[in-house]
Amino acid sequence: MTGVFISFEGGDGAGKSTQMKILSERLRAAGREVVQTREPGGSDGGEAIRELIVKGAKDRWSPLTEALLMYASRRDHLERTILPALASGAVVITDRFADSSMAYQGVAGGAGVETMNALHALVVGEHDPVLTIILDAPAEEGLRRADVTKGETRFEEKGAEFQRKVRQAYLDIAKAAPERCVVVDARGSVEAVATRIAEVVRQRLPAVLS
Ligand code: TYD
Repeated sequence: MTGVFISFEGGDGAGKSTQMKILSERLRAAGREVVQTREPGGSDGGEAIRELIVKGAKDRWSPLTEALLMYASRRDHLERTILPALASGAVVITDRFADSSMAYQGVAGGAGVETMNALHALVVGEHDPVLTIILDAPAEEGLRRADVTKGETRFEEKGAEFQRKVRQAYLDIAKAAPERCVVVDARGSVEAVATRIAEVVRQRLPAVLS
């Protein structure tokens, strides 16, 4: 039994959480065990680090410090949640993973692509997802939809220009890793987007959803 690792990525407010839930239900209905998780967070230690990352002033951390916190959280998440679940044969679906660090800290934040690649090699190594669904929407649309009611506003406050860079970074990541990444248009109804995502999963991972 081998597990399957899937990540969802995209700018703020692209509808990732809703779509992740729908896909998880679909896979459960197809008889798969599904572990739904998120970053930053996803384990006790990861969630504790998340508190440091998402709250407080916009410039609380430099982009490099922020990346180091993200990767510390990611390592704990991998060790305590993701790898054990994969070993037990589950489908693990995470709301964000390493591409978020590349897009937000590496490119939009300016910490650098090389730096992110070095951190990735050290912390994630070969444990990348087999499928990454990038939900793509114009940055302004995402910002309008972003949920800023939880007091987790540090990233939304970075503004439209930052979100545009994030979007472009994701499109570049997808172009560089087409065997792993699929860009899905996040516009339209929840049902329409869910259908697009299910088609991608059927096509890329026929053993998971037929
Ligand atoms: P999340 O709770 O997924 O926010 P949203 O629901 O808006 O997608 O993530 C919180 C913020 O953390 C989000 O704005 C993206 C940011 N982030 C990074 O900047 N780098 C990272 O590596 C990760 C995982 C998240």
